[in-house]
Amino acid sequence: MKKDEEDIIEINKRQQIFYDTKEKNWATKIWYSLRNRNLQKIRKSLNLEKQIQELHLEWCGDLSNKKVLDLGCYEGNSLSIYLAHNSKEYLAIDLSEKGINHLSGRIKNIENAQAVVVDFLSEDFQEGSFDLIYAYGVLHHFKNTNQLIARLKEKLNENGTIISNDPLMTSFPVKVARGIYRPFQSDKDWEWPFTRKTYYKFAAAFEIKDRRGMLGRVKKLMLLNLLPFSEQKKTMIAEKWHNKDWENSRHSDIELFRCMHITMLMQKKN
Ligand SMILES: C[S@@+](CC[C@H](N)C(=O)[O-])C[C@H]1O[C@@H](n2cnc3c(N)ncnc32)[C@H](O)[C@@H]1O
Repeated sequence: MKKDEEDIIEINKRQQIFYDTKEKNWATKIWYSLRNRNLQKIRKSLNLEKQIQELHLEWCGDLSNKKVLDLGCYEGNSLSIYLAHNSKEYLAIDLSEKGINHLSGRIKNIENAQAVVVDFLSEDFQEGSFDLIYAYGVLHHFKNTNQLIARLKEKLNENGTIISNDPLMTSFPVKVARGIYRPFQSDKDWEWPFTRKTYYKFAAAFEIKDRRGMLGRVKKLMLLNLLPFSEQKKTMIAEKWHNKDWENSRHSDIELFRCMHITMLMQKKN
């Protein structure tokens, strides 16, 4: 293993402690609180989680003959449990023992489903031949995109697919805000929101079968919240803007890079 790959394994040991303890410094606490207060409110009013989940269910298709890896599962989200129930074989992995213990309890009665503490990049992770890798909020935790892409390809079957969901830092206001926050951030060594370059590396390595950008125009809603519009009016505007982001970002890179989040269905090229 090369020196920088060894360094990343060391960083991931600190990441494991972060997810086990959830201890944050003051700057990270402020960032999380601002994000939760503003963005979560918008996500909730748009019912965005449900919309993403429905899209991911469609992308998963029939899983009865598929071996699935839930990469960076932590304690499992609602699709994790669906995957465990509906796939031929389900393996969930995470750095955090706390997260894995919790998920293990939730899936203990499901045949062919298990959750294991292991680093995806480490040699201890031997399992392979996955038909689907589900990585919700995970791919941006890898500093070296080339190393990650090589590992994903190695672990996928021919025609295997990846479903991902990650933050983007391609729009100007997000780049500025993140640039100011970054020096103070507790989790900066393992949080790498996608840049244009990251996206294009994935697009070169995999076939992007489908994609959606989220929270593009809708970012402006944070400013709209300062003006005296009724909640009903704001929700109407938010829905209109969100629908434009959701549809236009499928085909236009300009529209995609305005967004704050990206979800993708990628397929291994043969
Ligand atoms: C933002 S959380 C997402 C959790 C979960 N997928 C969800 O939807 O709630 C990112 C997770 O990725 C895990 N992770 C990051 N790098 C990893 C690696 N190299 N191997 C395994 N898990 C990793 C972290 O431990 C963390 O629990």
